Amino acid sequence: MPGNLIVENATELVTCSGFAAKYGSQMANIGIIPDGAVVIENERIGYVGPTSGLPADIDRTGFEVIDASGKAVLPGFVDAHTHFVFGGYRPEEFAWRLRGDTYMEIMARGGGIHNTVAATRKAGIEELTVAGRKRLDTMLSFGITTVEGKSGYGLDLDTEVKQLEVMIDLDDRHPVDIATTFLGAHAVPPNYKDQAKRYIDFIIADVLPEVTSRNLAEFCDVFCEQGVFSIDQSRRILKAAARSGLKLKLHADEIVPLGGAELAAELGALSADHLLHATDTGIAAMAGAGVVATLLPATAFCLKEPYARAREMIAQNCAVALATDLNPGSSFTLSIPMLAALATLQMGLSPEETITALTLNGAAALDRADTVGSLDPGKKGDLIILEYPSYHFIPYHTGVSIVEKTIKNGTLVFDKTCNEVPYGDASKC
Ligand code: NIG
Ligand code: FE
Repeated sequence: MPGNLIVENATELVTCSGFAAKYGSQMANIGIIPDGAVVIENERIGYVGPTSGLPADIDRTGFEVIDASGKAVLPGFVDAHTHFVFGGYRPEEFAWRLRGDTYMEIMARGGGIHNTVAATRKAGIEELTVAGRKRLDTMLSFGITTVEGKSGYGLDLDTEVKQLEVMIDLDDRHPVDIATTFLGAHAVPPNYKDQAKRYIDFIIADVLPEVTSRNLAEFCDVFCEQGVFSIDQSRRILKAAARSGLKLKLHADEIVPLGGAELAAELGALSADHLLHATDTGIAAMAGAGVVATLLPATAFCLKEPYARAREMIAQNCAVALATDLNPGSSFTLSIPMLAALATLQMGLSPEETITALTLNGAAALDRADTVGSLDPGKKGDLIILEYPSYHFIPYHTGVSIVEKTIKNGTLVFDKTCNEVPYGDASKC
């Protein structure tokens, strides 16, 4: 029966147990149970513990049973920062950057985000939905069971709303849970060139009320960057969003050290994201305010920028999350294995810290640590089964996805050993 599942004999069960972000040295604690079992009933986790602790007389009728011997079992991954609904692609920009053009130069001459805005405005709902669904399918194959998605490729009322509606519709119809973010302040559109204040007035007066009154987004984000939105402008937008009931996020200190991390702390944001150039003061402020530092190493890699200082952040007692930043420009990837490789080999995270950053801390960055991100009784039955016996294989099998099965709400939704992605009908395998 969908939603009822027993996984037993897992060589290594990694629980990541917890109901809130893990800070600093706590990130290394991922809760390993050898020879573990998980019981999911009515989509929620019931039992988590050693297989030997399963009641001998457990009634297996109505349960799918998976023998995970020789395999590791972990919570589903939470990708807490993406821009996965967009029109068009920008492969030419990749080549221009290889040639030496910078991301901001390309944007300043009307490419970059503006290019995708034009394509997203043109795209119909069906086109955006089909492309979005395909990306969600790929996410499931990487073990992602919860994802955040941003607007920000409309920069006008209709298209911002269209992007959010597509995500809400996909959330209803696709196994991956989608948390939506309003990013109307992603760039100043060409028709407001040199009139950032007027554009911000428009966002606050016209778009934000539509988004909040129709419950289209849970979070508000701003691209706070030199040449995009200043600290003062970002503060104004985020304060208005908070007054309307949205939780806050921030693209912070990506290209220059502008003080985005400090602003996120000042406003009590859930997360500050990117942080390649966050200062010592910014890092201390995030730690003090409990802002989740959401790091996006695939973006640093693709832009050939230095990585965020994850080790300093953890030493200063920050909670660090890792996310793909999937978008058609700076990070056209949804590869969890690549993130794990970059986090460990380039940023110096341990395999355990990497797992926490991809699960519980990602959930905390979405204010969902009470329902996903770990294998704890009461949480959603979201888990992955690896082809190998230990989580150590995730960064070690460099760049290769080793997710064999993905389970969402207790139902098998991806199985590498099966030719079909069953979406709830394991009997097809
Ligand atoms: O997170 N930096 C701003 N926004 C995205 C990129 C968007 C794009 O280039 O289309 C990011 O990197
Ligand atoms: Fe982003």
